[in-house]
Amino acid sequence: MRAYKSKVVTPIRLPDRDERAANLERAGYNAFNLDSSDVFVDLLTDSGTGTMSDAQWAALMRGDEAYAGSESFARLEEAVSDVMGFERLLPAHQGRGAENVLYGALVSEGDYVPNNTHFDTTRAHVANAGAEPVDCPVEGALSGDREFAGDLDVGKVRDLADEVGADRIPAVVVTITNNSLAGQPVSVENLRAAREVADELDATFVVDACRFAENAYFVREREEEFADASVAEVAREQLSYADAVVMSGKKDGLVNVGGFVGLRDDPELDDLFERARERAILYEGFTTYGGMAGRDLAAMAVGLREAVEERYVADRVAQVRRLGELLADRGVPVHRPTGGHAVYVDADAFLPEIPREEFPGQALVCELYREGGVRAVELGSFAFPDSDRPELVRLALPRRTYGADHLEHVAETFEKVAERRDAGEISGLEIVEEPEMAELRHFSAELRPVGE
Ligand code: F0G
Repeated sequence: MRAYKSKVVTPIRLPDRDERAANLERAGYNAFNLDSSDVFVDLLTDSGTGTMSDAQWAALMRGDEAYAGSESFARLEEAVSDVMGFERLLPAHQGRGAENVLYGALVSEGDYVPNNTHFDTTRAHVANAGAEPVDCPVEGALSGDREFAGDLDVGKVRDLADEVGADRIPAVVVTITNNSLAGQPVSVENLRAAREVADELDATFVVDACRFAENAYFVREREEEFADASVAEVAREQLSYADAVVMSGKKDGLVNVGGFVGLRDDPELDDLFERARERAILYEGFTTYGGMAGRDLAAMAVGLREAVEERYVADRVAQVRRLGELLADRGVPVHRPTGGHAVYVDADAFLPEIPREEFPGQALVCELYREGGVRAVELGSFAFPDSDRPELVRLALPRRTYGADHLEHVAETFEKVAERRDAGEISGLEIVEEPEMAELRHFSAELRPVGE
């Protein structure tokens, strides 16, 4: 049950089917090119698309816009310390800004960085610092009903160290929840093991904490030791093993923009903090605003505290679970158990007649828009060329934004797509135009139905 009610609303409209088909054609069969006013239920991302509370809007009005020593920075510093346990704070305009600040200071040419699975921007920042990002997910992570399929395979990290030498591994990173692996959670037991391996290698242990509150909820649900703890207690405990966090406030900060690096107040991290501070000033802005307006710092300070409230996070996880059930009940192959922020659909299994070269995931994204004005995102062969990743389509739920009727609409839309599939009416796609950097093609490439 939603533990909030609406006070401000945004009207949305479902264009008719002919209009949707024309929009799709105009967008080059790429959902990133659709206007949001033409989208009925927008599940492109959970990042920065959520709804703020009245307390956050009130905080916004009291934002202190001072260049240095802002009162809003002090509020955020307190919140990060209370909720996450990190005393030293460098705000950034969003998660990737924080990654640039931290990884640029921590990682050098020729290094290797293991991570349970790098999110795209993390991978890009590690690579940009001249290092090699190495994914170390647990074997067969998505093959079964694992409770903590997001875990880091610490054995793979040790193997990497044997191969390249511990001195070439400056950081061990764990991303909670594991966005690139169906939003699956990471256990506290695994975070403890990651701490241990970081100590063995004399590496800094970094947690990408974008979805730390959702992860804490799963830990409480599934790890015996925490059965009686509050989500707020687990949230702190799971982060207590890390030296540093990189955070996108657009997720569990419950804001539309913002991020930060948090560091523990430990003399051994003084040098890293100094280097990161210099980069923060160079790339983000003075250290008490870091690319954000004071009002946005203030709203995030409130959002972080709300993210670990029981009623908020229970409703959040339940809503994602509900969408997963609605789809599974209709025979849609979704990854289960569902993660914290999104439902992931196996497009290879849903559209088995469309070969990989014709982008079944992207074809499904287009059909969801055509049949119901629903916008999803492909995270398979179109987004990640030359990889052997599963052909996934992600339906990410913005926080505190849609209701049960919207979820029903999404499920009904899948039914309509299945009918068209069974009638042999869905064709694959081919690329007409793509940017030079193939890794970025899903943002801007243009496609057309095969044979048109
Ligand atoms: N780390 C993870 C795990 C993320 O999911 C994201 C963003 C970032 C870092 C970067 O944060 O967008 O604030 O710069 N994920 C969004 C998504 C974009 O749709 O999954 P950012």
